Amino acid sequence: MSQATQRRYQLPESELPTHYYNIAADLPEPAPPPLHPGTREPIGPEALAPLFPMELIRQEVSAERLIPIPEPVRDAYRVYRPSPLIRALGLERSLNTPARIYYKYEGVSPAGSHKPNTAIPQAFYNRAEGVTRLVTETGAGQWGSALAYAGAQFGIETKVFMVRVSYEQKPYRRSFIQTMGATVTPSPSAETNAGRAILAADPESSGSLGIAISEALEVAATRDDTKYSLGSVLNHVLLHQTVIGQEAGKQMEMAGDVPDVVIGCAGGGSNFAGIAFPLLTERLNGRSRTRFLAVEPASCPSLTRGEYRYDFGDTAGTTPLLKMHTLGNGFRPAPIHAGGLRYHGMAPMISHLYELGFLEARAYAQNTCFEAAVQFARTEGLIPAPESSHAIRAAIDEAVEARQMNEERVILFNLSGHGFFDMAAYDAYLAGDLTDVAFEPQQEAVAV
Ligand SMILES: Cc1ncc(COP(=O)(O)O)c(C=O)c1O
Repeated sequence: MSQATQRRYQLPESELPTHYYNIAADLPEPAPPPLHPGTREPIGPEALAPLFPMELIRQEVSAERLIPIPEPVRDAYRVYRPSPLIRALGLERSLNTPARIYYKYEGVSPAGSHKPNTAIPQAFYNRAEGVTRLVTETGAGQWGSALAYAGAQFGIETKVFMVRVSYEQKPYRRSFIQTMGATVTPSPSAETNAGRAILAADPESSGSLGIAISEALEVAATRDDTKYSLGSVLNHVLLHQTVIGQEAGKQMEMAGDVPDVVIGCAGGGSNFAGIAFPLLTERLNGRSRTRFLAVEPASCPSLTRGEYRYDFGDTAGTTPLLKMHTLGNGFRPAPIHAGGLRYHGMAPMISHLYELGFLEARAYAQNTCFEAAVQFARTEGLIPAPESSHAIRAAIDEAVEARQMNEERVILFNLSGHGFFDMAAYDAYLAGDLTDVAFEPQQEAVAV
């Protein structure tokens, strides 16, 4: 078969990455540190110790370029990694474009997205330090599914606060989490002070990631036997996701192509960082001109419309202050179907690189993303997660622009997950019932 028609680029298990890539080692200037909200001094490891195991705290602040992946974690990865890189020939043909479109497919993981890439090491490091119970939040249900799965692998009891709108939109995500042996509670809930305060102000609250994070943090802070686990935003989470880009780099070499543009959807930023950071090194060194494009929802546009300032990571204001692009921690995202993109902030590391000019960002409304997702489904045969459809929209727009400019653009995007639990969203789109929600910056935010 000639290279031009090869569709799938598969690495053998022996090529599974041995290390995580830490972009902190290659930054032209360090990212601003997290601050204590009271003193506004950089926080030390002791501030995070009640929440996370020591090894994850070390990774959070590490400047080492390569961090070894423990063998039990690599063993668990082998169930679904290396994940495939696929040339989207069907989509290319339908677009009649000279562009070559590749996607890295993370939907092959047991939970159906990239999230197990960090759930597995997080469960492992917690277990190694004697933790037996984890609490977390989930937006779309993908992260909760991933942590429930990883918890089952390493003998950890898992409790998940699931944003209420997703709990209702995606009942089978809840079933998935319960089938893995974890418990799941719709958020805001009456189980925590943070949840009760939100419900008192708005009994109909559809919830948000920021609120669910506050609930999970409160449980972790008030129970000695429980640590907290976060599915995005923090450095150690982004770090774990770099297995994606390391593999994709090798697979692009197999394909004999160098990406002109690398695309990922961005909620808290972890799947985008995962595909982008290992490939960004060459750009940081001035040896490449590859563009890196983060795509977010028009109704929750933290990178494209948010301010770059210190803010809390959660709604109740319990986290350290993070320097990030933010819509304000009081921002209530509209109940769009891409539940995993409904977060008021963007990872500090991504925000920093965006400020330095190494990244681009774009925002799309949900109907145009579903249109792209359906086009992708009909040409490639895979039904994408609503979050991932944002990356597909951008990839299609890049390919159409390449056609207009008669340019052989090489496009690589991360298909962060499948949408098999999101069929209610597709039903609504196909019935013409989806509304596009405009961004409303006037919503009350706690200024810091
Ligand atoms: C399939 C999928 N893609 C993307 C995201 C966005 O998260 P992040 O920006 O951390 O990758 C999520 C979050 O739940 C998700 O489930």
